[in-house]
Amino acid sequence: MGDRYQVPRGTFDVLPEQEPIRERIESAAKAIFDRAGYGRIETPAFEDTELFERGVGEATDIVRKEMFTFTDHGGRSVTLRPEGTAPICRAYVEHGMHKLAQPVRLWYAGPFFRYEAPQAGRFRQFNQIGAEAIGSGSPLVDAELIILLDDLLAELGVPGVRLLLSSLGSPEPRAAYREELKAYLRGRESELARDVRERIDANPLRAFDSGDEGTQAVMAEAPTMLDRLEGEDAEHFAEVKRLLDDAGVSYELDAGLVRGLDYYTRTVFEFTCDELGAQSGIGGGGRYDGLVEQLGGPPTPANGWAAGIERIVLALGDGPEPEPRDAFVAAPEGQRERALALVTELRRAGLRAELDLGGRGMKGQMKQADRVRARHAVILDEDGTVALRDMDSGEQREVDPARVAEEIAAARS
Ligand code: HAM
Repeated sequence: MGDRYQVPRGTFDVLPEQEPIRERIESAAKAIFDRAGYGRIETPAFEDTELFERGVGEATDIVRKEMFTFTDHGGRSVTLRPEGTAPICRAYVEHGMHKLAQPVRLWYAGPFFRYEAPQAGRFRQFNQIGAEAIGSGSPLVDAELIILLDDLLAELGVPGVRLLLSSLGSPEPRAAYREELKAYLRGRESELARDVRERIDANPLRAFDSGDEGTQAVMAEAPTMLDRLEGEDAEHFAEVKRLLDDAGVSYELDAGLVRGLDYYTRTVFEFTCDELGAQSGIGGGGRYDGLVEQLGGPPTPANGWAAGIERIVLALGDGPEPEPRDAFVAAPEGQRERALALVTELRRAGLRAELDLGGRGMKGQMKQADRVRARHAVILDEDGTVALRDMDSGEQREVDPARVAEEIAAARS
């Protein structure tokens, strides 16, 4: 037993009975994006390592310790994508999408990879659904994106959702604020947790995220960027809030909202789910007005979010029951070929039909029909007659072998 293979640490298999809920999430997202005019984009599962170093930021946890990076046989350093925004900006530049009508609005779904300590809701391979609107600085875009994620979570019925909202301002005032925060943290250094103290210079904002009590007390009195917003930054944020109010989307201002990626400017937000425990972030995002230019494109404001499929699944609990079958074709030994022909005919007519592939006797086949929750059993007899049994009522009658599909379809409607 000891040397049996297992899934790699932090990963999981999705078994057939776990698929329906995931499909429901993806198709709800697809419908919402489709109605809103977002086009689907797919990018590779790996990219040049440098894209993430430059895009996500050298000082972030993601780049410092969570990337799956390896050297390929050609000697290039490549990295399994830890997130989707930098790759999509890369694609935007590479395909000259700035020449299209702006903003270009895209959505995506797929696997992402981060070498994190696994726990409930935190995996090393996980799936995101995400949206990016590239090429507009308008607060309308911020509001549209937030409304779309709010609608998705509402439509899926995710319980206990709260929206946290903040603004980081533009790079310059933000840099000034960072200095102010650093000075404040240095002044109270002795009260801070060690890891926070060690990273005052590299990432002072992370102090807001600390689980340490002493640090939290210090941060409760810390200056916040929200208090320092001025001019156009302040106007932009006020407009985003007003648009969300108008749309009936409720939010909580959270001046200490820290996102784990460096590219954010102005609006940032996170949807959390109270039912999820420690890994409560169900989806988040914000504006990244400098990223496209930083990756070699023209100056291009942009905004987006991503939500974790596994966290939505955890929040929703058990998925829907599997779909019942329309028919189970039961046949004695000598009639198995006919059973396959009939089941094929039923499937081609659009019905969900199965037959016994396990060599069961007639009694076993009827049990199997029950197990797959078939609405009808089609029973082939040695003499060529066909009977249709309603599995709910137990009623059974002989039917014309050439009209089985029609009989079942008629009974269904
Ligand atoms: P993020 O907050 O790092 O943002 O990830 C978005 C969501 O992915 C999280 O809220 C969470 O639900 C899920 N997630 C992240 N890491 C894990 C993990 N290890 N296991 C399970 N789920 C996880 C981004 O990735 C940005 N690219 C979002 C964005 C798009 N910003 C602008 N545009």
